[in-house]
Amino acid sequence: MPTNDTEPVRTRRSLLDLLLGVGFIGFAASALYPVLRYLKPMASAGPGGPLKLTADEVGKLAKEHSIITRLGTGRVLVFEDAQQNLRALDARCTHEGCTVQYVPGDSVIWCACHNGRYDLDGRVLAGPPPRPLALYGCTRDPDGSVTIQPPKKGES
Ligand code: FES
Repeated sequence: MPTNDTEPVRTRRSLLDLLLGVGFIGFAASALYPVLRYLKPMASAGPGGPLKLTADEVGKLAKEHSIITRLGTGRVLVFEDAQQNLRALDARCTHEGCTVQYVPGDSVIWCACHNGRYDLDGRVLAGPPPRPLALYGCTRDPDGSVTIQPPKKGES
């Protein structure tokens, strides 16, 4: 009785072809995704529209006294100062764009990249940043939610 020696080879070859195909598709997707993201940036939150923080963000803000959130394509630093006033500033350092952070102990906004320092209104105190951080409106609503208002055109 004749045996079919090619059957296991064909099965292994099919499996290898399948794995190569899946690998190629994964590689192509990982190469195309950044290009597509570049061509189609993230959706904006609207032209100058306000942003309401989520319940999770409000909880984190209460616990950690500062959060970074997204507003359109930008990042906003929302923090609570020593007098428990809410404030919001553009989180992008005006020097080279690193994300700034609130340092409650020193009452400053600090950029770790080149030791840039801003006061709580976003004015430059020290370091290389050439301009102040844009100041956003920030209000706590009666229901406990927090709303961020982008700066008006021309303000920064
Ligand atoms: S990027 Fe912030 S100080 Fe340089």
